[in-house]
Formats: sequence, structure tokens, C-alpha cells
Amino acid sequence: MTQPSDHIDNMLHETRVIAPSAEFTAQARVTREEYDRRYRQSLEQPDEFWSEVAEELHWFAPWTQVLDWQPPHAQWFVGGQTNMAYNALDRHVARGLGDKRAVVWEGEDGEVRTFTYAELLGEVSRAANALTELGVQAGDRVTLYLPLIPEAVIAMLACARIGAVHSVVFGGFSVSALADRINDAQSKLLITADAGYRRGKAVNLKENADQAAALAPGLEKMLVVRRAATPVAWQEDRDVWWNDVVGSQSDRHGAAPLDSEHPLFVLYTSGSTGKPKGVQHTTGGYMVGTYLTTQAVFDLKDDDLYWCTADIGWITGHSYSVYGPLLNGASILLYEGAPNQPDWGRFWQIIEKHRVTILYTAPTAIRSFMGHGDEIPARSDLSSLRLLGSVGEPINPEAWMWYRRVIGGDRCPVVDTWWQTETGAIMLTTLPGAHPSKPGSAGLPMYGVEPAIMTRSGEELGPDEGGLLVIKRPWPSMLRTVYGDDERYRKTYWGEIPGVYFAGDGARRDSDGYYTIMGRVDDVLNVSGHRLGTMEIESALVAHPSVSEAAVVGRPDPIKGECVVAFVLTQDGQQIDPAELRGHVTREIGALARPDAIIVADALPKTRSGKIMRRFLRQIAAGQPIQGDTSTLEDPGVLDKLAATPAV
Ligand code: PRX
Repeated sequence: MTQPSDHIDNMLHETRVIAPSAEFTAQARVTREEYDRRYRQSLEQPDEFWSEVAEELHWFAPWTQVLDWQPPHAQWFVGGQTNMAYNALDRHVARGLGDKRAVVWEGEDGEVRTFTYAELLGEVSRAANALTELGVQAGDRVTLYLPLIPEAVIAMLACARIGAVHSVVFGGFSVSALADRINDAQSKLLITADAGYRRGKAVNLKENADQAAALAPGLEKMLVVRRAATPVAWQEDRDVWWNDVVGSQSDRHGAAPLDSEHPLFVLYTSGSTGKPKGVQHTTGGYMVGTYLTTQAVFDLKDDDLYWCTADIGWITGHSYSVYGPLLNGASILLYEGAPNQPDWGRFWQIIEKHRVTILYTAPTAIRSFMGHGDEIPARSDLSSLRLLGSVGEPINPEAWMWYRRVIGGDRCPVVDTWWQTETGAIMLTTLPGAHPSKPGSAGLPMYGVEPAIMTRSGEELGPDEGGLLVIKRPWPSMLRTVYGDDERYRKTYWGEIPGVYFAGDGARRDSDGYYTIMGRVDDVLNVSGHRLGTMEIESALVAHPSVSEAAVVGRPDPIKGECVVAFVLTQDGQQIDPAELRGHVTREIGALARPDAIIVADALPKTRSGKIMRRFLRQIAAGQPIQGDTSTLEDPGVLDKLAATPAV
């Protein structure tokens, strides 16, 4: 792992401060005074604070203890029984919101499907009955490999309803990535679709699912949604059509009362070492955390139409496309396809057509839109928007300003929310009616979050000193373990700096208490807001017959934030076909991991003990002059040679 210096250089000096408008503040759910009071309460009287929030939701049996903290293991709402799907659906139908729109879905091809809360409850109940009929029981893992269609949300909620643990695998992941995740989670059932639409093409998911199933001996059944009417291979004893088995079920189903700590889902994410880890979240705490943050951060009101553009394959899709807003009884918009299909105006047309009021998207998308100019968004009426959010990677101040001015009409507050797959819910942000924004800075801690900036040895740093971002106490929506590898959980998150949660990000706090994230400090890349471990990509590269050794680093990229640069050594001087190698990485992991640049090298910069000095590779990849002490290198001459080698 890279050893970052304890003090990370403070490179960005942003002085603009943008206060919320008086109009927004006047109607906001949370004012500055309210935030200050509740934040203080959340730290000083956490039991009272969290009980008050949790009591707004439905529990079949009350908890006896708010938090049981046996570091590094936390249990929240101990002894309580609840159900995520009940709280996201039945609770709203019971309070008279059955006819309210829950989901407005738009396919890439323009098809629109709408579900009221009562209809969604019926569909989820059918799916829950079907899962039971297929032999799925509480605690069983179910892998989802689906496009962003309503059935994806229905399947997640149906799992939650019966206590099955879903593991959603992003539809862009490869056969081997899917097979690894099915095997690691020991899933019995895979839910997929014949195909999904992406940039006008039907991408055949069933074909990948079939190949992955061949590598996953424990998989028993495959439930297949018909989305695109593409021809598929069929294995009679294993495959079932969604319509056949779900369509015939009763639309009534009693949600299972589940222990607060019953696992809700596993979601795989990249780390700095080894294979992707299954981040495990549980029911009660995750539910309370996503419920609270969605209403506070997005200032949710009854008549909002809320759109988070994240795919359900990522944590943002779990917490803020699906669970958080449905727990609040919100109307959510889901869009299946690409932002540039048929052109870069698609998002703005969707906003105009459906009158979206809240938009939550990623900096990489914002930078792409910005690169296509102000005229495209100007063609659509964006006046329905009242609040904008950003997530997934640091947003550069210029993109932030563009987002606010061109999309938000200089009227909508922008919240920049920092959090992680592991944190489950938003941790650092401004609240839109309470706090001024500083472009590029995420902002203040959410309720119950006690962050600090530390050195590697655990010394706390003061204002404006760059260091490592840590969280000093457990919070309800935190991960509980790494699925099947508790040791990795202990070591990665609570063992780097003993006693505190180590986020893996560099950050600094200014004198107003605002946190600015400076990027990962470990060997994790953030490509278009998606996490990729350099080791994962290196393993994929060396699995290619012509590659003997590989080192992967990130390079700053104007659109993606960071892109992949691969240094490869060839096996016995074989030729490398760059297109072939890129195709190989795409097949091994997915298109996200495709190297933007490949540098075919004779040697890598190694220390005498054989460690690759990635710091220098990062400088070479970025075209920067070599800086730092090269005397520990076995052969410093390697650096000049690499710098002179053109990328392919
Ligand atoms: O480096 C941080 C970056 O994304 C990482 C978490 O990635 P993932 O688990 O995939 O979750 C992404 C969506 C929550 C973090 O360690 N990151 C996320 N949000 C921000 C961010 N970096 C800067 N600013 C953010 N708002």
C-alpha cells in the first residue's frame, strides 16, 4: 500500500462562499439553529437522538438498547424487529399514500412506467411470494444482475421483505466479475434480464449470466426478466421467466419481522488489496440512516419528484435511488439509459417532461455536460428544479459553479455529499437551507458523525492541515463486516489507526469546520465516481498470456476525474496488441477498468526489496517531472526510460 505522507499538501484554495437564498431557507426542513441543536444532541445524547428518529419508522418489536458497541463491532437498535420493505411501502399505504406515485420510470427508448405506492406494494408482494416459491429463505443470498428497470427495485424490495440478502452486481461488470461475486456470496439465485438498453443497443445480460453460472456451481436458479425480447439460451431445469413465476402470485404478502441486525444486503466494492470485498449492511441501522439523511440533505417535501441518477449497482443507487427516498414516501424518478442517448440533452428533457424537483448526480456527468456547452441544457425548461446534489468523487469548483449556474439557474442550492459504500449513508455535506456552500468542499458532518483529520500515527490535526479522514464513533448505517472475512473488516477499517474508522481518503478541515476531500490515499482509483483497485486491474493484466508484470496507477482526467494508466512488461519480449489487451481487461472486469493508456516497459521502478514505487509511475503517467527521492530505487535510470516511452 502507498504510504502517504502524514501531512497532505493543501493544493486547492477556494474562497467563494455561496449562502442559501432567503426563499429556500424560509421553506427548508432544517435551519442552521435546528442543525446545530440536533447535531449537538446526536453527539451528547446519542441514544435519545437515534431513538427519536427510529421511532418515526415502524418496528414490529421495540429495541431494548440503542447501541451495543464492542469495537469494532456495532449493533444498533438491539432486539428491535422491523422490515425495510414494510417501512418503504406498507407504512405509506397505511397512512393514506397508496395513490401517490412511488416510481416514475423512463426507459432509454422513451417508454414510461409509473407505480403508485399501492401498486409497488402489490408487485413487491408478488415477487416476495415468488422468491419463497423458488425456495429462497431469510438469510439466503440472491444476486441481482439487472438493468435499471422497475423489476430491479421490485426485486431488491422483495428480498428485503422476506429477509433474503441481495447482492446487486452492476450490469456493466464482466462474466468473471459476476461469477466471483456469486461465488463469494454463495448465492443460490440469480435475478437477471434478457437484455438492457444502453446507448440504443440491447446488451445481452442473459448471455453473461449463463457464462457466469457455468463458473458458479452453487447457483441453483435463474429468474429472468423480459426486457428487450432478445433471443436467449434457456436451461429448463434452472431458468424461469419472471412473468411466469411472479405474475401468477398473490399481490398480498406479510412482511417478515426481522431482527434489526438481520443482514439487508452485500455490495461488492474495491479495496487496495485482494479481490473486491462484500460490504455487509444490516436492516435497522441502515434504514434509520438512509431515512434521516434523505429527508435532511434533500429537504424532501410531499410534492417533490426526486431523481438520483445512480444505477442500483452502486451504493448511491441503493441508499438514494431506492431505499432512502421510498422510506420517506417520496416520488422517485428512475432512468434506464445513458445520459447522451439520443444526445447530451436527455437528462434535461427528462427533467422538463416529468417536472423533476431534486437532482442528485456525479461530478463526472456534470463535467461531461459542461464540456458540451450551455446551449444544450438551455433548450429545456429546468425551472422545476429546486435542489441539486453531487456525489462520488471530488467536484472541482468550476464544475460546481457550472452546475449551480446552468442547471440550477443560480437559484438551486448544491449539496456536495461525501460518503462511501461502507458508510451506507451521507456523512459530510451541507444542509441546503442551513449552510452556505463552498464549491469543492463537502461541508459539515451529518448528525451523529464525529470526523477528525489524523496522521497515520493517530495524532489529530488542526484546521487547514491535510491528513487522513477518520470517524471517531460508530453510526447506525455503517457496514457491519466484510462478508465472509471479518478479519479484513477489522484490519481495513478499524486497524489502520486503532480505535477509529479509517475512510481511506485524504482531507482537511477549514476554520469553519468544513471538510474538503482530497482523494484516496490508498491504491484505489476513482474512475467516473467508481472505485477500482489497482491490484484488481493488475491481476487482470497479468492474466493475459503476453503480460509478465503490470503496475497500474491513476492519472487526473478532465471528465472521469481519474483514468487508468497501465505499465506492462511483456512475456519473453512478445508483442502487445493494445486493443486486444484493453478488450481483455474489459472481459475480466468490465469496461470501467479499461486502461486509457498502456505503456510497454522493459522494467518498472522498484526498490531493492522489490516494491514498485507507484509514486513515480503516477508522475510519469501525468507527464510531470520526477520529484522525490529516487535513491532507494534499484535502478533510477528506469524512470527516464519510462518517461520517454510513448503510451499506446
Ligand atoms: O474517495 C471518496 C469518493 O468516493 C469514495 C467512496 O466510493 P464508493 O464507496 O464507491 O461510494 C461512492 C458514492 C458514495 C470515497 O472514499 N467520494 C465519494 N463522495 C465524494 C467523494 N470524494 C469527494 N467528494 C465527495 N462528495
